[in-house]
Order: sequence, then C-alpha cells, then structure tokens
Amino acid sequence: MAKFLVQKSNPLKGEVTISGAKNAVLPIMAATLLTEEKCEIKDVPALRDVDVMCDLLESLGAAVYKDLDANRVEIQAGGDVLCEAPFDLVKMMRASILVLGALIIRSGRAVIHLPGGCAIGKRPVELHLKGLKAMGVEIDEEQLHRGIIDARAEKLKGTTIYLDFPSVGATEVIIMAAALAEGTTVLENAAQEPEIVDLANFLNKMGARIKGAGTDTIKIDGVDSLRGVSHNVIPDRIEAGTFMVGAAMTRGNVLIKNVVPDHLKAVIAKLKECGAYVEMGEDGVRVRGDLNEITATDIKTLPYPGFPTDMQSPFMALLTVAKGPSVVIETVFENRFMHVGEFNRMGANIKTSGNCSIIPGDKKLKGAQVVATDLRAGAAVVLTGLVAEGTTEVSQIYHIDRGYEKFVEKLKALGANIMRVEE
Ligand code: UD1
Repeated sequence: MAKFLVQKSNPLKGEVTISGAKNAVLPIMAATLLTEEKCEIKDVPALRDVDVMCDLLESLGAAVYKDLDANRVEIQAGGDVLCEAPFDLVKMMRASILVLGALIIRSGRAVIHLPGGCAIGKRPVELHLKGLKAMGVEIDEEQLHRGIIDARAEKLKGTTIYLDFPSVGATEVIIMAAALAEGTTVLENAAQEPEIVDLANFLNKMGARIKGAGTDTIKIDGVDSLRGVSHNVIPDRIEAGTFMVGAAMTRGNVLIKNVVPDHLKAVIAKLKECGAYVEMGEDGVRVRGDLNEITATDIKTLPYPGFPTDMQSPFMALLTVAKGPSVVIETVFENRFMHVGEFNRMGANIKTSGNCSIIPGDKKLKGAQVVATDLRAGAAVVLTGLVAEGTTEVSQIYHIDRGYEKFVEKLKALGANIMRVEE
C-alpha cells in the first residue's frame, strides 16, 4: 500500500494551477449517456474517481476514449445502454448513483446496488428516488429493502418536486431525468453548487432547456433528444481552497491559478477573518499567511453558498495552529469528524461532541503515523504534516488519489517536503 511521508517544510511559495472539478466532471460524464452522439469533455482531472466513472460507462455499453495526460475524455453511448451498474464499481465510488436518471431515460430501467454507509455518514438516496417517483418512475420497494435500486419507467413526466434538503446528487439526477422527460419539471429547494450550474450548462449546450441552475428553483422544459457536444469542466473549488489553506497555515505566499473566486466566497471570507491576505488578480488568487498572525475563527458547514463541508477538514488543519480557540460545526454530514482523531495524534487536542468540535489552537504539532480517513481529510492531514515537527506518515492515501490530481507534485513545486512511497 502506498503512503506519503511528509516532513516539516518551509512556507509554501510559488504558483499552483488548479485542475478541473471532480464533482463537476462526474455528473457531466454520467450525462453523456443521454445522447447517442459523441461528447468531448476537456479539463478532466486525472483522478481515480474519473477512472471508475469511465469503467462504469464502458460497462453500461458506452465507448470511452480517455487521455488523462491531456485531461480529455470522449464518450459515446451510441448503441444499447445496459441498465445494471456493476456492484464492484458502485462500491468503489458513491457517485456511481449519478447514472440513475440517465439509465432510466436510455433503457427504461436502472438497477443499482447501493453501497453501504460510508465513513462520513449514511448518505441515503431517498431524495433522488422521491423526485424520480414523482416523475412516474416505479421503484421495487422489496428490492430497495435489500439495498438494490430497481427503477423502471416507460416515460417520465415533468412535475413540481420539492427537495427536503438541497442534495447535490438528487438535484443532478433529477435534472438529467427531466431534460428528456415529457413536459416541465420544477425543482424547488434545489442544490445551488457551481457544479450544478456546470452540469446545466453542459446539458443546455446539448439542447436541453434548463433555467435557474445556481438558484434554489430550477425549471426544466423536457426536449425530445440531445446532441453530442464539447465542454470544458470548471476549476475545482475544493482543490483551490485546499491550496489556499495550505498557503495560509504554512505562512506562505502562493498564487493560485485557474480558480473562480466567486465559487469560494465563504472560504475566502473565513481566511481573511483568520488574518490571511487574499488578493484577487487577473491571473489568479494570491494567498499569503506571512503578513499577519493567523488567528482563530468559527465555522459552520452549510449547503452552497455556505461554507463547504468538503473544506471543513482542511480548514480545521489551519485552526489547529491558529492563535486562540475555534469552534467547527458540521451540519451537512452526520459523521464528518473522523480526522479529529488523526489531528489529535499530532497533538491538536480537539474535543468533539456530536456535530461540534472545539479546537484549542496554538499547538506545536508533532509528526505521527496518521490515516487519510476520507478524501478531504487526507489532504488535511498532509497539510498538518507540513507544519508539524518531524515526519508525518499518511496511510490509506488512495482516498487522496480519488480527488486531488498530482497532489504531491503540486505541493513539491511549492517547496513542500513530501514523498510518496510504494510499499
Ligand atoms: C456531493 C459531493 C461531495 C460533497 C457533498 C455535499 C459529488 C460527487 N460529491 O455529494 O463531495 O461533500 O455533495 O456538498 O458531487 N442526503 C439525504 N438523503 C438523500 C440525499 C442526501 O439525507 O437522498 C443527505 C446526505 O446524507 C448528506 C447530505 O444530504 O448528509 C448531503 O448530501 P448530498 O448533497 O446528496 O451529497 P452528495 O451528492 O452525495
């Protein structure tokens, strides 16, 4: 198993270019199933999750040409599309559920074995199913009790759907299904993440009629067919946020290129509150932690445009070394404090109760053997290793490979002392 060895490093300095967004490219790849024509996707990050989505689409009958060195993928689901997503792929990647709506549209049926609860929480899909049912999809309830979604529909009909929670995945699945449904679908309390807007832009280029993506009400007028198009994926705001935090907490000075500052308003506001210098320029966002003391702040995760849950653990890494105590409240996932134990191994002394963590701050951390408990937490413990005395050994780094393209190379180019070792 591979691991990272991270040494206490000099402040991060230089430039880093952000890759395409994992959470945008996965639904866009799933949406290519909605046309028989070829689609080209550019700025695709070379990530394990992208590989899994390629394998999934191939297993469903699509022709996939991938050149991840050139950050490009071509997909054509020209012939029959199979309806069953193989469990060995679904269990590797929760986002496999994103093919649900497109499969029902293309083959009249979708069979997807739900993976069990994952480390950060149960992550149920009842909102996806509720929306599809309202559009006329029949779900086999007996199969569902066994953890298998078996959904069928000859035809989907547009209707008004209210999401009890603005789920990103449910919003994406319903938009895809509604794009080719009969009539108009209105999705209320929809997720507003930039990745939803990117999916809607992709579908609209294909000929869909989607309005309001990026707000809480999305209106989709169904069309008869969609065509193949070429699309560039938006930059990854979570990767950008991770490097911003890295620059601030190492007291560094980094220019972050290929970033949309508007997508990071909450993170930038919190960085400034902590004393980091953040400047938006034409060629990127400069973050400096070397001008002022980095001080405590409180964080509460929320759906977009609130503070992103995916930035909670990287930001907590910064708070462990900031001056003064901070409080972090996680409201999106019920169990997303697995990294607290890892920070504490390094001396952070964080106390957690329910969805609330208290970080005393001001800590001189010491390198330790730690685990990447999930994708973002993995990046967070790496950042902590950069400011901890001695060596931090990070295992289970396959989580990090799922979502950060060339993480080690990018950190090294900024002066970080990190290496990957294969055991
Ligand atoms: C997406 C992102 C993930 C991010 C998350 C929240 C992708 C591939 N992944 O995940 O990186 O952390 O958004 O920003 O884009 N929920 C329900 N019932 C449902 C659906 C969701 O209770 O039917 C709950 C989940 O358990 C979770 C919360 O809603 O607690 C957020 O989930 P959701 O927005 O659906 O996240 P994902 O789409 O899985």
